Amino acid sequence: MKTNISVSSPSQLETEALVAVVLDHAEAGSNNDDKKPQLKVAASDPAVQSAAVDLLSSGEVTGKPFETNLLHKPAGLKAKRLLLVSGGSAKKFSAYDLRRIAGTAARTLKSRGIRSVAVVAPSNIAAEEAVRAIIEGAHVGNFDPDYYRSDRKDQKINELTVVASGDPSILEKAAREAQIVGESQNFTRDLVNEPSNRMTPTILGERAKKMCSEVGIKCEVYGADKIKELKMGAFWSVAQGSDEPPALIVMKYEPTGAPEKPVLGLVGKGITFDTGGISIKPADGMEKMKYDMAGGATMIGVMRAIAMLKPKIRVIGIVCATENMPSGKAQKPGDVQIAMSGKSIEIINTDAEGRLVLADGLHYARQLGCTHLVDAATLTGAVVVALGYNNAGIFTNDDAMYDRLHKANGKAGEKMWRLPIDDEYKEQIYSSIADIMNTGGRWGGAITAAMFLKEFAEDTPWIHLDIAGTAWMEDQKAWIAKGPSGIAVRSLIEFVRSFVA
Ligand code: BES
Ligand code: MN
Ligand code: ZN
Repeated sequence: MKTNISVSSPSQLETEALVAVVLDHAEAGSNNDDKKPQLKVAASDPAVQSAAVDLLSSGEVTGKPFETNLLHKPAGLKAKRLLLVSGGSAKKFSAYDLRRIAGTAARTLKSRGIRSVAVVAPSNIAAEEAVRAIIEGAHVGNFDPDYYRSDRKDQKINELTVVASGDPSILEKAAREAQIVGESQNFTRDLVNEPSNRMTPTILGERAKKMCSEVGIKCEVYGADKIKELKMGAFWSVAQGSDEPPALIVMKYEPTGAPEKPVLGLVGKGITFDTGGISIKPADGMEKMKYDMAGGATMIGVMRAIAMLKPKIRVIGIVCATENMPSGKAQKPGDVQIAMSGKSIEIINTDAEGRLVLADGLHYARQLGCTHLVDAATLTGAVVVALGYNNAGIFTNDDAMYDRLHKANGKAGEKMWRLPIDDEYKEQIYSSIADIMNTGGRWGGAITAAMFLKEFAEDTPWIHLDIAGTAWMEDQKAWIAKGPSGIAVRSLIEFVRSFVA
């Protein structure tokens, strides 16, 4: 999608469709519950206001979030159409909502075969922030997962103009950056969307390599020999059961002029299919375990964006990619494995495989000199029990890292929630035969999984993101298709950039 900024007045813009936000100015909570909404277009251009006035005063528009109304040949505007998207209460409206409005507009218009649109930045949000939210949100809406349908139309918005007022050079910079972020999020969604027969560890490695060479960063993809040579006994214990070779993907962004430290390590779980192994999963819903490489795909998308945005900071991306399969070669419950760090692990459940591959990924990142670690993984069903589909889980051994990520979440418009990892929980993973077990019993499953990872982050400041409930949209929404969400890509890009003051 090509993006432009226009600082001219929206009524003068010749476009297939002009999009404007409708906000409700009625005070909530006053005497009358079913009192009439007071709807206004959030645009300072009076011509846009008056083009919508008849419709808004007709009583047909509720103003509820994501309601859309399309006018043809709007009076007084050069645009062929005016799409009004409601954003709910004017008082509560934020850039978070604006992203979703932009996604809704993209989905509404592209399904009608419209290719070129202009969105009016609402005047109650700072222009630069609005530009970012609109461009990022439109990219989210522009993605559809129906790759293998014979009737795939692949209709997309090709050109997006954001109409805002302000210094054009500042707004254009914001637009360029937001486009990189939006494309990188969709790059990740592309990878996650592929089924396991078309996204093996080898193919994931090839896709990472191709991307890295396009953006000009280093990428090595290692196979089983290197994994064994590095003594990654935890990673290998998962990979040993599969006929499909594993891949250890290492991407390095080392810009000239960046300080020696910090070095950020981004470690992703890349299970291209999780059957559960010998502790096999039930058939019902198992097809979804093709998205168990979403954490890895997230890190590949983040590296893409970072390489293009070029902040002066070192970043290493590591993806531990393998299938988790049952076979005559597969590990069995009760087996003891020695991780790269030397810690011994009793395997209680072969379906707790994500923490095993990450254990060695985190240790390897420390060995490569990373001073700060972030991992992302579709790690536990328990995080879905705890937080549902709307918040990813954050676990960290470092409050400063949490503050940084929390701010990044706000800027990126992504929801995540911190869960505790107090030392008391560690008892749950004590083993009588080895240093630790790979499961911690029924309760607090997302936390005991994080406690396991913490053993391998050791004293390095570290954040673990459990995206099991948020990496896949179970249903479509007005602003996003059903399928891979690309969660955490935007936040982690902001997180990395926040280190460069
Ligand atoms: N990949 C799964 C977690 C998962 C569940 C991801 C639902 C996405 C949606 C992970 O490898 C797993 O199987 N976890 C087990 C751990 C258990 C055996 C301790 C789980 O959560 O049931
Ligand atoms: Mn599993
Ligand atoms: Zn898994």
